[in-house]
Amino acid sequence: CHSTGVEREHSGEGARAIPLSGHVGFDSMPDQLVNKSVNHGFCFNILCVGETGVGKSTLMDTLFNTKFEGEPTQHNQPGVQLKSNTYELQESNVRLKLTMVNTVGFGDQINKEDSYKSIVEFIDTQFEAYLQEELKIKRTLHSYHDTRIHACLYFIAPTGHSLKSLDLVTMKKLDSKVNIIPIIAKSDAISKSELTKFKIKITSELVSNGVQIYQFPTDDETVAEINSTMNGHLPFAVVGSTEEVKIGNKMVKARQYPWGTVQVENENHCDFVKLREMLIRVNMEDLREQTHTRHYELYRRCKLEEMGFKDTDPDSKPFSLQETYEAKRNEFMGELQKKEEEMRQMFVQRVKEKEAELKEAEKELHEKFDRLKKLHQDEKKKLEDKKKFLDDELNIFKQKKTAAELLQSQAQQAGGSTTLKRDKERKKQVTLVTHPAFTNTFSITYPRSVERLYFTFN
Ligand code: GTP
Ligand code: MG
Repeated sequence: CHSTGVEREHSGEGARAIPLSGHVGFDSMPDQLVNKSVNHGFCFNILCVGETGVGKSTLMDTLFNTKFEGEPTQHNQPGVQLKSNTYELQESNVRLKLTMVNTVGFGDQINKEDSYKSIVEFIDTQFEAYLQEELKIKRTLHSYHDTRIHACLYFIAPTGHSLKSLDLVTMKKLDSKVNIIPIIAKSDAISKSELTKFKIKITSELVSNGVQIYQFPTDDETVAEINSTMNGHLPFAVVGSTEEVKIGNKMVKARQYPWGTVQVENENHCDFVKLREMLIRVNMEDLREQTHTRHYELYRRCKLEEMGFKDTDPDSKPFSLQETYEAKRNEFMGELQKKEEEMRQMFVQRVKEKEAELKEAEKELHEKFDRLKKLHQDEKKKLEDKKKFLDDELNIFKQKKTAAELLQSQAQQAGGSTTLKRDKERKKQVTLVTHPAFTNTFSITYPRSVERLYFTFN
């Protein structure tokens, strides 16, 4: 598409400056922005990381001049948990939705190796929620409750010595995800000279371990001076108290001791005022901006790259979202086809195996059947032989019986002693004997034979 000369003039660096002959009104743009923002309200999310009882709740109450609810934590927590509370605050006509997140049980475990994990997880979860909202087709970012952490107050215990390894490890893990503002808690526990040394020691340890803490911005000239001075005071040594003590004729927040009073808002006593100024009055917007443009941007970039999105192809040519989508889709389809083919191969293999198994079983079954059939045939043959033998026996017997009956009837017909004699002789040849118990059973005896074979007729 060709652009005309006029269009080119109106866009980008080559814009022509022309004087106005009267008031138009676009100088009210900043006011319009302010009004819109005031109407919409602001949101600010603070994460307090520090050991149990280090003074987190007291400092928050002191910072916002109120009493947020919250019970002290026991020291017997099995792990680190993050507890989040949201409050609606109002100062003059500006509304602030403040979310305070507390690390419950931090530093209470014997093994502190994984203490940072739940904190990192929590921060990432908030980024992820925002990213999901951004990626929605129908976005409602203007009414979305942004829970991303804008500032992390890292409470350092007032040991006067050096940072604990837990502090260094945790800050190192968090520094690319959140704006860390380190503070020395309960700083009334250390003397002034010790405190100066402690601050130097902490700063040098942070530098030598490569921990990036939040630097108050010096690019805006209205705040550059104060911010660069304050960067030199980090980490702020703070004292928290909600107790009011009368000093002169004024009631001030202070901690009273038998030997004197520590005034929270006295800059000679501690850095509380510096912290409040830097965190709330001067840099709250920068903290919000840094969270969005630096930390969230990093999270988003890593996440999208992880998902396979990129701005340029391997030849460094621009690669649109559409092209990325298509490349991903093709890659996915290719993988799907490969998986399908693998599954098909596996299925065919399985079927073949099963078929072979079934064939083997069938063969065994046939063999068994053949064996049984042969056994049956043998058995049948034996029985048939036996039957034939018995039938033959029966036939012989029948013949003999008929002959015997014939002889008997001839004898009866002949009668007298001659017949008796002949009869006796015949009887000598074969005798029919009836079984003593069964009338239908009889036997034939042969001369000079002691064997007697009985036959039964039904
Ligand atoms: P958990 O929520 O239980 O982890 O504790 P926390 O870190 O919120 O500490 P909290 O504010 O409850 O304070 C614990 C104790 O320390 C209380 O007795 C406070 O009065 C005391 N305390 C708080 N801030 C300071 C301080 O700046 N100096 C001194 N000396 N004591 C403080
Ligand atoms: Mg607390």
